[in-house]
This record gives sequence, C-alpha cells and structure tokens, in this order.
Amino acid sequence: VLVLRVLGIESSCDETACAVVALEGDDPRALRIVSDVVHTQLDVHADYGGVVPELASRAHIQHIQPLMQAALRNADMRADELDAVAVTRGPGLIGALIVGVSAAQGLAHAIGKPLLPIHHMEGHLMSPFLMARDESQVAAMEFPFVALLVSGGHTLLVHARAFGDYRLLGQTRDDAVGEAFDKGARLLGLGYPGGPAVAALAEGGDVAAVKFPRVLLDKTRFDFSFSGLKTALRTHVLKHEAQMLEETYRRDVAASYQEAIVDTLAIKAVSACRHVGATRLMIAGGVGANARLREKLDVACREAGIVLYRPPIRLCTDNGAMIGAAGAVRLARGLFDQHAPVNPIPRWP
Ligand code: KG4
Ligand code: ZN
Repeated sequence: VLVLRVLGIESSCDETACAVVALEGDDPRALRIVSDVVHTQLDVHADYGGVVPELASRAHIQHIQPLMQAALRNADMRADELDAVAVTRGPGLIGALIVGVSAAQGLAHAIGKPLLPIHHMEGHLMSPFLMARDESQVAAMEFPFVALLVSGGHTLLVHARAFGDYRLLGQTRDDAVGEAFDKGARLLGLGYPGGPAVAALAEGGDVAAVKFPRVLLDKTRFDFSFSGLKTALRTHVLKHEAQMLEETYRRDVAASYQEAIVDTLAIKAVSACRHVGATRLMIAGGVGANARLREKLDVACREAGIVLYRPPIRLCTDNGAMIGAAGAVRLARGLFDQHAPVNPIPRWP
C-alpha cells in the first residue's frame, strides 16, 4: 500500500507549527506523526494581555522557515520526498495566515507537489486520530462523532458524520470560552493567558460558593453564551471588594466561575451527543487542557455511555500535525482541487 507523507503548516494564530504526517491507504485511523515542531509566541504577547496580530505575523515570519526545515530534518527527509504540502487557509488572523500560506506555496511550487489548503477546524477534528496507541485508553477513534472545540477563538459543537462531512450543532453567540477564561482572569487580577491562571487559583476553592448563571438557552440547539457570566463576575467582584482581598475567598470565586463554564460545556456536549445519537465525543482546543472540564466530561460521558477522546495537550492546542493529517486524507481521497486559488480566508464559517 502506498504511504503518503505530507508536511502540515499551521500559522493561524500565535503558534508557528510544522509537522510531517504519514498515511498508509486513506483511512484516518492509519495516520501517524513522523515529526512535529511548534514555536509558541506566548511570551511575545503576554505583556499585552492578548494576541497582537502584527507581532504574531512578525514572529511567524522569523520562525516559519527554520521550523519547516526542522520538521523535515526530524523526519529524516528531503523536501522533494514529500507527497504534498498542507497549510491552514483559515480561519485566523490574516497577516498570520499569509505567512504560512506563502511559505507553503513556495515549497509546494519548488518541489512540484500539490498544495492542500485546510480549514483550521477540520485540522482540530483530526487530533484524536493522531493519538499514539498508548495515549488512548480507549478504542481507536472512528467516524461518526461529536466534537467540542474550545479555544481562545472558538467554541463549537460539531457533528462529524464522516471525513469532510461536518454539521455545526452550536457555537458561541458572543465570547469564545477561552475569552471567558481570559476576561475572567483579568477581573480576578490574574495574568494572560487566563485559563491556566483561573484554573490554578480555583484549585481547592469551593465550586458552590457563588451561584453564577449557567446559560443553557434552548435544549435542542447547542449554542453557547458567556458574556452574561462575565458580567456576573464583574458585578460580584465590585460588590465584594473587601472580601476579594482574601485569598480563600478569591479561590472560591474562581472555582465557582470556572465551574459555571465547564458545567455548561459538559452538559451541552453530552446532550448534543444524545441529540444526534453519537456514542463518541472528542474535545480539542486550548481550553481542553482544563482539568476540571476533563473531570466533568469523564463523569458525564461514563453515565451517558459515551466514549470520550481527550488528545494530549500538545495535540489539543494548535499544531502542524493536525493540518498535515487533514491534508493527507484529502490527498489520499482526491478531495482537493489542484487549480483552485489558495488565498487565506480569515473568516471562514
Ligand atoms: O487553542 P489555543 O491554545 O489557542 C487558540 O485560541 O487558538 O487556546 C488558548 C485558550 C486561551 O483562551 C487560554 O486561556 C485557554 O485556551 N486555556 C485554558 C487552559 N489552558 C489554556 N482555559 C482553561 N483552562 C486551562 N487549563
Ligand atoms: Zn486552533
């Protein structure tokens, strides 16, 4: 059987990432990571409390070529041994996307191989297929499944019926869940990124100390809304200024706030699975690193008879392997148009 090897390039936000992925045949379950390198820009943006697009573009420019070379070197390959180059076409920051797409175009042209433009979220959907055997405590991932994709920019529930056949079940109507963590962190006087800071403060806090709202909206639609929760936290912090100086009280508030977020995510994800009759649920995106969310989903899925796929953190956050993976399957199945233009698409539904 033919083995395809694809270089995946990701530069949509604040991670520059390249990886070589191999695929024997055309079944996603046969995907394998050959090499995988990431440069994260966290320290570039930390002082600004969020990703600064112009700084992101510059950092991508500095790191993209060395990372492409490192991915090939670690795979012990020459560029012309690749079968294709896959790159995130969007959604993302326009300047950041342009860097990855331009680099990918240049390489694909130089080696005379196809360039595969990939939707960033399709990449995330591939992450459970990239888990090594010993990482997944459960049976290998298979379609169909429901995906909960939660990051600083996205909050989506997707029904992945087959490769390339995705139905959006719900998304956020306002803030992304990562933003809810980041903005909450700011209100609690914590640094950026907010998710890990809130999670650390919440450790040992009383999750029932403050009753924050759970906005569940309609039971058969799976949209999210986090702006009301953020406002509730702001109101609470202002009302209890004196108490907020006590460490134990701050812990309780952080724990209660985190609980309101992860409760909503877990309840919606499981009811979405029930709604479409899915028996597999995967989680990806930076917020997937949240330990309390993982715990809640574990329990909720066990009760509902759903198998939960939680890729390790390095596969949950932005990486090149997931883009290479989507590209390899598209290449193997002929699901791409060699002659289509590959302009970046910053807002891509
Ligand atoms: O996927 P990601 O690394 O980047 C993109 O947004 O694309 O996600 C970053 C987001 C940030 O909002 C960060 O605060 C959040 O993920 N995050 C967490 C945790 N670790 C990162 N949120 C909650 N708990 C965590 N442990
Ligand atoms: Zn992402």
